[in-house]
Amino acid sequence: MDRMTEQELTDDVVARFGNTPDERLREVMQALVRHLHAFAREVRLTDDEWMAGIQFLTATGQISDNVRQEFILLSDTFGLSMIVDMINHSSDTAGVTEPTVLGPFYVPGSPERGFGESMIEFEDDGEESIVSGRVLSADGTPIAGAVIDVWQNSANQFYAVQQPDVQPPTNLRGIYRSDDEGHYAIRTIRPTPYPIPADGPVGAMLVATARHPMRPAHLHVKASAPGFRSVATHVFDNRSEFLDSDPVFGVKDSLIVEFNPGDDGLLHCEVDFVLDPS
Ligand code: BEZ
Ligand code: FE
Repeated sequence: MDRMTEQELTDDVVARFGNTPDERLREVMQALVRHLHAFAREVRLTDDEWMAGIQFLTATGQISDNVRQEFILLSDTFGLSMIVDMINHSSDTAGVTEPTVLGPFYVPGSPERGFGESMIEFEDDGEESIVSGRVLSADGTPIAGAVIDVWQNSANQFYAVQQPDVQPPTNLRGIYRSDDEGHYAIRTIRPTPYPIPADGPVGAMLVATARHPMRPAHLHVKASAPGFRSVATHVFDNRSEFLDSDPVFGVKDSLIVEFNPGDDGLLHCEVDFVLDPS
């Protein structure tokens, strides 16, 4: 009898998923099997490497809980989250604000803040800044009453949600709204780089592969308005370190802005958010 080939085994496993009643599930499972087998065959995966992978995934599950999601961090550091984001949220319309990774530190229900009101509730050595601009439709029409939900880390490198005993829970978080001409203004600190959580298996993977955990300085924004597709994005500081080596691949050129000193002693950063009609 002929010996089974690697390809025959792959074909057999793919065929075994052929009766999956849900067409989409069938497509996903069969593609997953084909790619997993292709990976193992390409690298000639050894027994020890297979076991190391199993142990890595086990540790990734064991460190995860309601708050810490190491599998999402793993997806982020493989660029998988960004690919999924690009597939599902990119616009074909020129000028529309590009999306990027949401990250684990978004907390719904931030306090409503007035035009230009400060969201600084904790003393650190951050440089005080005004981030302002307009919310516009893709055709340039200002959008009044748009919601700008913002969150960022303190200059001590942590988000408020990571330090419940140190920072007030609403520090550097706020919900702002655009005025009748689409203008918004946020008073905050200049963002600073910080490490993604690196004390678990993902951190060990970064060390083993000579990658660093530092995200370039950014603030997070979710911009939304009735009748428009909302966007979850970042505002990156062009002088930040790590723009070329973001561990989660979230940087896009169109999201990089300048912070410039103003006559009022504050830094100023101008950025418009452009939304696609839904
Ligand atoms: C963040 O920017 O908050 C973030 C994104 C992905 C992984 C970790 C943190
Ligand atoms: Fe972040």
